This record gives sequence, C-alpha cells and structure tokens, in this order.
Amino acid sequence: MQNADLIITNVGQLVTCSSGGKPKRGAAMLDVGIIGDGGVAIADGKFIGVGTSAQILSDFQSDEVVDAEGRVICPGFVDPHTHIVYSGDRLNEFELKIKGAAYLEILASGGGIISTVKNTREAAVESLVEQSLVRLDKMLACGTTTCEIKTGYGLDTATELKMLEVIAELDRLHPINIVPTFLAAHAVPPEFKEVPDKYVDLICDTMLSAAWKWFVSSDFQGRTPFFCDVFCENGAFSLDQSRRVLETAKSLGFEIKAHVDQFTNLGGARLAIEMGATSIDHLDVISNEEIGLLAKSDTFGMVIPTENFNTGKTQYANARKLVDSGCAVALSTDYNPGSAPCPSQPMAMAISCRYQKLLPAEALNAATINAAYAIGLGDMVGSIEIGKRADLAIFETHDYRQISYEFGGDLVAAVYCGGVAV
Ligand code: NIG
Ligand code: FE
Repeated sequence: MQNADLIITNVGQLVTCSSGGKPKRGAAMLDVGIIGDGGVAIADGKFIGVGTSAQILSDFQSDEVVDAEGRVICPGFVDPHTHIVYSGDRLNEFELKIKGAAYLEILASGGGIISTVKNTREAAVESLVEQSLVRLDKMLACGTTTCEIKTGYGLDTATELKMLEVIAELDRLHPINIVPTFLAAHAVPPEFKEVPDKYVDLICDTMLSAAWKWFVSSDFQGRTPFFCDVFCENGAFSLDQSRRVLETAKSLGFEIKAHVDQFTNLGGARLAIEMGATSIDHLDVISNEEIGLLAKSDTFGMVIPTENFNTGKTQYANARKLVDSGCAVALSTDYNPGSAPCPSQPMAMAISCRYQKLLPAEALNAATINAAYAIGLGDMVGSIEIGKRADLAIFETHDYRQISYEFGGDLVAAVYCGGVAV
C-alpha cells in the first residue's frame, strides 16, 4: 500500500485524454481514454495512480478519500490563447457590431484593440492585476486550470513590460498555471499610424530584447516557454513585417506563434509553419495547400470558434478538415474584450461541435491534451496520467459528451489544481 494525499473514487467516467507522450492527430482524436468506475491517487500535487476504483483502493491509502458519486472527471482544461490582461471593456463596440460595423473597420477607425490600449496604458499594475484575477476566476469556474496569456494592449515598451509584470503576478497569485506570450505586434499604435515600419523597428530593435531580458530573470524561466506572437492581417502587420518580428524573436530564444487567416490570407500560415511555429491561430481562411503543409509539420492548428460566434461570422475555420487531414488541432477561447469575451472552454467546445463539426471527443482532446502541447506544456498537464500535475474537473453528468452538448449552463461541480480543491 502506497500513501497518497488524496484519493478520488467512484468516477462514472474517468476521462483521461491520455496520449502516451505526444499530441493527438486524426483518429486518435476520437479516443478520450475513458476508464469506467475510475479512480485516481494524488501525492505532492501529481497523479501517482490512475485506474479503476478497485485498483486505486487496493494500491493506495489516504486520509482524504473523495467519492465522485458516479460523476465525470476530465483533465482541467488548457486554454492556449487568451488576452485577459487589459483595462476596461468594449461594450460600446459590442453595440456597434450589432448595428453592422465590422471588426477591422472599428480597428481602422482607432477603436477596437486601440481603445483597449488607451485604457491599459493608463491603468496601474495593481488595477490590471485585480481586473485580470476576476477573469482568471471565471475561467477556473469553467474548469480551466492552465492558460496562455498574451500582452499586446501596451504597444510601447513600458506598457508591454508592465503587462508582463502583471502576468507574472497573476501566476504567483492564482492557482491557474500560466504561460506568457509577447504580442507587441498586435496592432500599430496611434503614434506610429503613418509610419508602421518604424513601429516594427521598435519591436525588433528594442521591445523584443527587453521582453527576453524580463523572461530570463522571471519565475517562468526554466518552467515554461516564452512565446512571441504576431497579428498578420490587413490593418495590423503585413507578411514581411510579421516575418521580421518572428525572425528577430526566434534569434533571441522565443518560441513563436502567429494570428493568421482570421479575415485575410496574407500567407502567414506558410511563413509561420516554415519557421517552426508552435501554433498558428484562427485559420478561418487558410488554403488547402497550407492545410497540407500544416499536417506534415509539428505546428498546431488552433481554432477559435468563439471569435466567429461573437463577431457574427457565418464562416468558421474548417476544424473537421484540419483533423481529417492529420493536423494537430487545439481549441481556445481567445478570451479578450473585443473579438471573444468568453472565459469558457466548454462554450468553445459547444460552438466547435456545432459549426466546425468536431465530435465531442475531438473537442475535448483539442481543449486539453492538444492545447497543452500547443503551449509547450504537453509533458506537464492536459491529461490524467501518472506524473502529470493533478489538475482535474468534476462534472455534474454521467457522460462527458454532455460538456459539449449543453451550453450556457454550468456542469462544473469542482476543480482541483495540483491536487488541491480550488
Ligand atoms: O485573437 N486578432 C487579434 N487579436 C484578438 C482580438 C483582440 C481584441 O479585439 O482586443 C483575436 O481575435
Ligand atoms: Fe487572439
């Protein structure tokens, strides 16, 4: 008998999403690794036993035994693309969009991302931390236990570094695991509107090295990657500008990501795949040829159906085709004040099933194990496997498919981060 800090038994479906140390592709996306009448044993914040209730009870003992009463347990969700550090809201823009304004039109007229930049530049670190903690709490309540957070509402060196400081503070204060991403190339700030290349110079000559310097002395160093991202789009950054930013970042040591094909195909997908990006995100208008390249690469295709849903688009990224073509597909909320004010991975799964034709099993793997690999943490989180961080959620249902089937409600009964109920 081995001692455990916590044992959970009588799990109707223990949905492990186990992957044997690699991301899931193709038919493997249909396998969520269910153990009927399952149980887990946890010690020092990690899974030390995963099996049936009978196996766990015969191998482990603990003073703390939780009876899951036949409910479903899944790995905590991993949300691999968010922009949750910002000040204010975009409620006026919500109304403008309802009345017919397009997202890129609002951005071009100095609203959208730029309006959030104005608020974020003015906000103190303490205020940003306070506002962002509320957003992390909402994500946790939806079952998310790990997330990526991007900068990108500063667009000057000082404010981008302030956002990194906020992200580090959130990581210290909140049970959700966090991975930082530097997104100075999110939009061209108003002071560079007429000379966008000069802003790209500033990013490449100053901001990226300042951010990298911050990273190497931060608590993230050695624990998580540090990503550099770019918004490759008309009205944001051209293909050449995106290449410059990503090449400079790579040479400094960043891992790379890119927002591509959200509205316009500028060739960003091919560029980022050829540069070895960890993920390319959105993919609403990716070409068949680029899907072929993606399938042969180690780059993740990240789909974000919450953005389409929120902006009222009828065209979604073709996640069905991405999976069937053999791409490694991950799913995220993109939680941000403009294009996707949504903290919920279950909601992203629900939309993905309906409009991108992922099956519930595929959506779950995309929001857990594949999402973990898409932010470089596949060996640490994203599945219920021995040695991984004991992050899980208990759902008020007997069948995991209900997580995608129901929407707008709340099936999460409990969330554990590192083996602790939070
Ligand atoms: O992923 N596309 C650019 N960035 C975000 C939106 C950010 C915002 O609107 O504030 C996105 O959709
Ligand atoms: Fe985004």
